[in-house]
Amino acid sequence: VDSHVRLSPELERDAAHVWHPWSPVGSSTGPMIRQAIGYRLVGTDGRSYLDGISGAMNCSCGHGRDDLVQTATRQLATLAHIDLSAGAHEPSGALAERLAGLFDHQISRTFFANSGSEGIEVACRIALNLFANRGTARPRLVSFARGYHGSTSLCQALSGLPAVLADVPSAVPVTRVELTDSPSAMAHADAIPRLLHAWEEALDDEAQGEAAAVVVEPLLNAGGGIILHPSFLRGLRDLCDRRGVLLIVDEIFTGFGRTGSMFGFEHSGVVPDIVVMSKGITSGYFPLSAVSTREEIYQQFRRDPVYGGLRYGHTTSGHAVACAVALEVIRIIKDEGLVLNARERGADLLAGLCQLTGHPDVVDVRGQGLVVVIECVSPESAARLRTALQGNGVLLRQQMSSLLAVPPLVIDAAGVSEMVDRVTAVFEVEGVHAS
Ligand SMILES: Cc1ncc(COP(=O)(O)O)c(C=O)c1O
Repeated sequence: VDSHVRLSPELERDAAHVWHPWSPVGSSTGPMIRQAIGYRLVGTDGRSYLDGISGAMNCSCGHGRDDLVQTATRQLATLAHIDLSAGAHEPSGALAERLAGLFDHQISRTFFANSGSEGIEVACRIALNLFANRGTARPRLVSFARGYHGSTSLCQALSGLPAVLADVPSAVPVTRVELTDSPSAMAHADAIPRLLHAWEEALDDEAQGEAAAVVVEPLLNAGGGIILHPSFLRGLRDLCDRRGVLLIVDEIFTGFGRTGSMFGFEHSGVVPDIVVMSKGITSGYFPLSAVSTREEIYQQFRRDPVYGGLRYGHTTSGHAVACAVALEVIRIIKDEGLVLNARERGADLLAGLCQLTGHPDVVDVRGQGLVVVIECVSPESAARLRTALQGNGVLLRQQMSSLLAVPPLVIDAAGVSEMVDRVTAVFEVEGVHAS
């Protein structure tokens, strides 16, 4: 922090003591937020912002909701938590049953953890241990080089993104598949056969052992907001079936309505073997992740030689308050039609931001549900625009060269039109500077 700039006491305290995740030392890139309501955030300096990042890309139901606060408070007063390895509590059972009702009937068994990364860690452990328990060990995983699955060592090993590259060696070999065309091309059917061919080669490259599972996001979030044509997941499902490999779908970002369907994989009509959820599952009101799979996979863990089950868990796995909140979130998503709203308001937002096509900083504008992506010419141009947008009262998420507008799914037509106006105004001014 520049010592000449006088900070408020709360910012000074933060600068002195908080180690921010994924942030260069000494940086302070975003505003300090004191309060939030719906899709609006209010800073400690009294400034108001349109929340185009849904808190942490998770606040699907909007901020400051009394129904979620009441649900959490009631559960806290009744039972905060009991260890799910020592007993059971009602909210986790009710939530697991509710999740099963959202999926194809084959997916009916759920393991709970706290963060998205833990969920991915669990999903990979399930796949790797499943084959080991059968006595036909398959040690390897396959993922997208531009995928992001979290920040534990194994999750980092799944990603080839420059900012995420593992800084400690991975115990599990991973083959990472590069995009075969530009990010914008991936939304088109004609790019998919080439991409699937690259996945096939990665699965067949057994120098480091056979693959147990592939791990994919239905829409690559941190990789730059890359929309995959639905034929990709269909083709990958088919490849996995032919090779006996498990399909793990990372719905941490896309799940619970974000892309205009309840889950991202629904756009392609496939049934994954394992689905990993977090973020929107509690709308960010409490930490939770969930890993759902087929009963038959669960039953095979009887063969575990030490425990007769999965050797994994955290103290707060499936916290009772988190599970109660998630149940209420699913009720809200259904009762308030938030999946449809994501589709409709997403279409409006995309149409509005498509005005930026042809701007000197912009390579592509694309969207799926309430994920609208402005791909810029470089990470530097995206960073400059993100800062300017913040100055004009709208927060967007920078992912590499892209800016993602991912507002809460409760955003209304007035919010979308204000967001479009604020964003286009900034690009107009910045366009004059850029040209
Ligand atoms: C697609 C995806 N997977 C995994 C993660 C990691 O989740 P968490 O940050 O909760 O560990 C994220 C977080 O942004 C994500 O977007």
